[in-house]
Amino acid sequence: MTDPLLFTPGPLSTSATVKAAMQRDLGSRDTDFITLVAEIRRELLQIAGVSQESGYEAVLVQGSGTFAVEAVLSSVLPPDGRLLVLANGAYGERMLQIAERLRIPARVQRWPENESPDAATVALLLSEMPRPTHVAIVHLETTTGILNPIDEIGQIVRERGCRFIVDAMSSFGGVPLDLGILQADYLVSSANKCLEGVPGFSFVIAKREALEGTRGYARSVSFDLLAQWQGLERNGQFRFTPPTHALLGFAQALKELRDEGGVAGRALRYCANHETLVAAMRALGFREYLQPEQESDIITSFRYLADPDFVFEEFYRRLAAKGFVIYPGKVSHAECFRIGTIGHISAGDVKLLVSAIANVLSELGVRVSRSDSCRAVAGDAGRSA
Ligand SMILES: Cc1ncc(COP(=O)(O)O)c(C=O)c1O
Repeated sequence: MTDPLLFTPGPLSTSATVKAAMQRDLGSRDTDFITLVAEIRRELLQIAGVSQESGYEAVLVQGSGTFAVEAVLSSVLPPDGRLLVLANGAYGERMLQIAERLRIPARVQRWPENESPDAATVALLLSEMPRPTHVAIVHLETTTGILNPIDEIGQIVRERGCRFIVDAMSSFGGVPLDLGILQADYLVSSANKCLEGVPGFSFVIAKREALEGTRGYARSVSFDLLAQWQGLERNGQFRFTPPTHALLGFAQALKELRDEGGVAGRALRYCANHETLVAAMRALGFREYLQPEQESDIITSFRYLADPDFVFEEFYRRLAAKGFVIYPGKVSHAECFRIGTIGHISAGDVKLLVSAIANVLSELGVRVSRSDSCRAVAGDAGRSA
């Protein structure tokens, strides 16, 4: 049985060598394992452009990316803290949902899904009293693939003395980012996005001075970020059962990132994947949801074709049967589907995908290659607080 190619935001296709690296059983107290964890933590800092010497710490957290987001939100706001979430998609909304469930005083500023939060509005919000203590934003909103201007916004957040939380789940390792310049207090990502490991853990890159100041704030035992960091520092071990196999695969994935030329090299491949995809999809009559200048190379939202024979569920099912897995849309006000261009896939794989798409369209009896062939948009929601 051959694996399908995954054109999704994760889990993603991984290399045979990453999968092979997991064929070992390590004990969580083995010296080999402890060394592995220390090396992974060091390398994550390096990828972010920081180090322990420059005041940052990498904290590994069991579970998917949402678990690390929840670890941050539940651990770093003081009892009298106030969170401002800047949201232009489902993952910003998820941060708000987590804060609300934890009964953390939170407000949200929303932008339409095809617009980014802007620095001027953020500056205005942060001049109002009482000022939030923490501001959270998603770097690359995977809902659409839009890349948000975290540098500009981060500068304002810093100037106003607020802590800055960045969900860089689907960008870290695939989009160049220098935390040394950004100076975010907490950056969250996951093993199985652009770093091309397997699912099983996520991580937080935290400013040590900020993290050390959170004593007593954690609202849960398993999500206690400070305790997780202190545990890793104390004896190099996780507090609770670690995902040993996922970490072994991840160490190999990091080697493959180095071999590819680091984040810059990986970003080039993702760019080639994205450009190949967009050109070939446009030739079939598809149009992207975002304007080209808003798009990232990570994931692209395409509008449904206007032809009534284009039924997404059937389109998806037939593609999957041919070994190509794409992703449904998450945009709230337009009919879209998404195609990811990250993971262990090449421009050649993207060409195979698009030729399978052409075959499926012809099986469905959908006419292709018409410039006006995309379904009209119902219009996006306006900005609201
Ligand atoms: C920006 C962003 N944040 C959070 C998440 C949630 O990650 P997970 O599904 O691993 O919990 C995702 C998942 O795709 C994401 O893209």
